[in-house]
Amino acid sequence: EGSKLWGGRFVGDTDPVMEKFNASIAYDQRMWDADIRGSKAYVKALEKAKLVTAHEMEQILQGMDQISEEWSKGVFVIKPGDEDIHTANERRLKELIGAPAGKLHTGRSRNDQVVTDMRLWLRDAISTLTEHALQLISTMVERAAAEIDVLLPGYTHMQRAQPIRWSHWILSHAVALSRDVDRLSEIKRRVNVLPLGSGAIAGTPFDIDRELLQKELAFGGLSLNSLDATGQRDFVVEFLFWASLCLTHLSKMAEDLMLYSTKEFSFITLSDAYSTGSSLMPQKKNPDSLELIRSKAGRVFGRCAGFMMTLKGLPSTYNKDLQEDKEAMFDCYDTVHAVLQVTTGVMSTLKIHQSVMEAALSPDMLATDLAYYLVRKGVPFREAHSISGKAVFAAESKSVSLNQLTVEDLAAVSPHFGGDVSSVWDYSSSVEQYAAAGGTAKRSVAAQVEHLRNWVKAQ
Ligand code: ARG
Repeated sequence: EGSKLWGGRFVGDTDPVMEKFNASIAYDQRMWDADIRGSKAYVKALEKAKLVTAHEMEQILQGMDQISEEWSKGVFVIKPGDEDIHTANERRLKELIGAPAGKLHTGRSRNDQVVTDMRLWLRDAISTLTEHALQLISTMVERAAAEIDVLLPGYTHMQRAQPIRWSHWILSHAVALSRDVDRLSEIKRRVNVLPLGSGAIAGTPFDIDRELLQKELAFGGLSLNSLDATGQRDFVVEFLFWASLCLTHLSKMAEDLMLYSTKEFSFITLSDAYSTGSSLMPQKKNPDSLELIRSKAGRVFGRCAGFMMTLKGLPSTYNKDLQEDKEAMFDCYDTVHAVLQVTTGVMSTLKIHQSVMEAALSPDMLATDLAYYLVRKGVPFREAHSISGKAVFAAESKSVSLNQLTVEDLAAVSPHFGGDVSSVWDYSSSVEQYAAAGGTAKRSVAAQVEHLRNWVKAQ
């Protein structure tokens, strides 16, 4: 029969290669605490259902506490045959308290146990990631507040577009991250549903008080259907997708920063603490932190796509394929956990070069404002756009910058131009025109700062 908890109908041993192939203990041991919390709650439901005595319950609870202590002190010994965290803890319980340990699994299956553990684990993981994300957002918001007067070229298609505030750029990324935090809290609501009491597939025939379990483990609700509860992993997929989207946002920000940190741009200097050198070229200072932030988006999306692939075409309820969920979940957690902290470090330490950013502004970036000048004189926008375009062409033909065209040059393009056109050629007053909510004027950016500060406080 061997020592396996499912060994009854088996003759002979598992092939050692298969044993290793089948085992998940190497990675699912990180759910040891969740597994113990789940078992402690479950034994209380067993006692209430009179499936264990009060004394047996005490023995199991104490045994579980001791196992918990062993894990937290790092002295728990994993033995050959400990297939996963569930088997390991139960095996150890039996060593500690003997026969009553055999009653703990009454009516329970590893199928409802494993998803209970994962939901408990992920719930805590989500709280941790939320805190780190909020810290990053706060760092960015405070930086935006402090550097609100700095202007830089804004780009579309990576071509000079319009002058914007540096803070407006920072906040654009903070706002996306705030939606990621929102999304994560929505996911948490669906993670926070208790499957325990679903058994292997059919539910439980015993008087297991699932509401007691829900209360003990502080879940927001109970799973509605035992087949769904044990066989679906959309709560994992949602998390993997969330990680992919969040890191996609951060990869975009990292990409901008890398460009801004090149000698050619020189808008920013990354702190040495987040840069590395070259083993060959002594002058090099490479933005490895940003490159890794960018790369991790690919990694986590790979996990998401890989696990979706695993799920596609699976039949109903539990299949061992589902064991693949854990490495994907842990890896995405670890990756996002690291990325959020490194990004916070990068954003709180990089230096900006205001004079370089502002010197990079060029009059052609005010061509839109030139059209708006005409709009204010009553010219329809389409016509104004065309006139301004002709002015750009005239400047290019004369090899001068747009603001060096004389009033006569401009008058030749359109009679609507007057001497007051000189007011257009000022970057600070340009950005101040964009004062509608969400724009790049100082008060609009300050309002974004205030909004995000209050939003962070409300989380
Ligand atoms: N280690 C397994 C997993 O992670 C636990 C569930 C095993 N259930 C089973 N019916 N073999 O999925």
